[in-house]
Amino acid sequence: MKLTASSLLLVAARAQQEISPTVQRCPGYENATNVACVKSYAAVLPYPFDRATAVNGAEPANDTFIATSVPSDGSLAQLRNASFVVFDQSRGLDILGSAPKLEKVFDAPPSDSIHEAPVYIPGMNAIIYSLPHQGIYQQQIINLNTTPPTLSNFTTSPPVYAVNGGKYYQGKIYWAAEASFSFPSPTDPALIQQQAPGIYMLDPFTREVTTLVNNYLGQRLNSPNDLFIDSRGDIYFTDSWYGYAINVTVYPVLSANTYRFRPSTGALSIVENTLEQPNGIGISPNGRTMYITDTGLTNFSNAPVDRLPRYTVNPLGGKSVYAFDINFAPPGNYLTNKRPIWYAETFADDGFHVTKEGYLLGAAGTGVDVLSEYGELIMRIEVGAAIENLQFAGADLWLFGLGGIFKVSGLGRISGLVDE
Ligand SMILES: *[C@@H]1O[C@H](CO)[C@@H](O)[C@H](O)[C@H]1NC(C)=O
Ligand SMILES: *[C@@H]1O[C@H](CO)[C@@H](O)[C@H](O)[C@H]1NC(C)=O
Ligand SMILES: *[C@@H]1O[C@H](CO)[C@@H](O)[C@H](O)[C@H]1NC(C)=O
Ligand SMILES: *[C@@H]1O[C@H](CO)[C@@H](O)[C@H](O)[C@H]1NC(C)=O
Ligand SMILES: *[C@@H]1O[C@H](CO)[C@@H](O)[C@H](O)[C@H]1NC(C)=O
Ligand SMILES: *[C@@H]1O[C@H](CO)[C@@H](O)[C@H](O)[C@H]1NC(C)=O
Repeated sequence: MKLTASSLLLVAARAQQEISPTVQRCPGYENATNVACVKSYAAVLPYPFDRATAVNGAEPANDTFIATSVPSDGSLAQLRNASFVVFDQSRGLDILGSAPKLEKVFDAPPSDSIHEAPVYIPGMNAIIYSLPHQGIYQQQIINLNTTPPTLSNFTTSPPVYAVNGGKYYQGKIYWAAEASFSFPSPTDPALIQQQAPGIYMLDPFTREVTTLVNNYLGQRLNSPNDLFIDSRGDIYFTDSWYGYAINVTVYPVLSANTYRFRPSTGALSIVENTLEQPNGIGISPNGRTMYITDTGLTNFSNAPVDRLPRYTVNPLGGKSVYAFDINFAPPGNYLTNKRPIWYAETFADDGFHVTKEGYLLGAAGTGVDVLSEYGELIMRIEVGAAIENLQFAGADLWLFGLGGIFKVSGLGRISGLVDE
């Protein structure tokens, strides 16, 4: 090749590309080892690169972007230390503020390691959450009025077993509960029978619980997983199969659908039936877009019944977040224009919430996806432990996961969830 000025420039540009590190300290965070910025979404990685994949048997915690091996680019080592991995600098650093901090606040024994359905109650300055496990009856409450915060059991009347999703709406907590089996009484050794999975309403001050819906025209719901209440008071909930997976209810008799329930009429209407296992659900601040996550990578076909959870992981199964247009109709809104907006980079998005700014927060694998309203990846919060759900208390973001409860404080421009 004849070396012209422009071909020399091309060679120089290629060389530049090869040596320019993929991961750098973020501008303004030069001394912060917990924040790392990824260049151009790592679109071009120097060869060779390799990432463990669940398809070849890697555990989900190893099948993640931050564990990608790129021997010729040592800059990726910074990802292993970072709690905040920023892909979109302008929006990511705006969200992070000047001194973001991730800490573990509460530990938990392996026997009650799942933490779900966190709901913040403004009038109490407390978070109520659930431990949905076979054989454990429990909700707990984090009292944020003390320093440090304290944790205690929270018993309702009647008790509700295996709550997996919760939302605060007009002074009440709405719960998606998965169980229809018996569970240990919180007050004596007796067992209590929970008759059916369903949607329940709790008054957090009196602790009284009301059943809102416990069947679909005589058939048991599978195990309501998560829910959202719109401005008309209609409750949208996903009814996936995880209650069977954790053995708190029987084998499903309904496909895994998403429903709208109108408490004033009792009408329970299907709104979505194409996801493999609908899971997290949320609505945009302007009320026009609904988001539903799919965790269909859990494969229930022929899963062993004597081992929990009763699914195997098929990494090629559903793990996208979908957006839908919300259309007005007198009996309740309906959904059109389903489109995938995010394909989980690790595992799948479980608990899913929308912030007042319209950012989407999804608990996925060992961290949290922070996405724009269009599903652009702005940032990952990396916890190093599986995260199932999240909630804001004031300006702090609390993360609920396997084995512990974590808190992100010092955040910048992000101010709570749109729906609570
Ligand atoms: C990082 O630390 C150096 C040395 O202490 C200091 O001069 C610099 O201002 C710090 N940078 C930031 C962004 O805090
Ligand atoms: C996951 O990664 C850890 C640390 O690198 C390693 O010890 C372990 O063998 C890996 N597990 C699987 C199943 O890939
Ligand atoms: C990781 O953090 C430790 C402790 O803060 C620090 O000593 C080390 O240099 C960091 N490694 C990288 C690659 O940033
Ligand atoms: C909650 O109750 C269980 C028994 O039901 C008990 O083992 C546990 O210690 C209690 N936890 C707290 C924080 O009080
Ligand atoms: C599932 O629950 C039933 C009823 O409580 C119990 O008999 C059975 O042993 C449980 N199975 C597993 C695998 O835990
Ligand atoms: C689902 O699991 C069954 C039983 O383990 C297996 O035969 C089947 O191939 C799996 N399906 C997928 C799509 O992974």
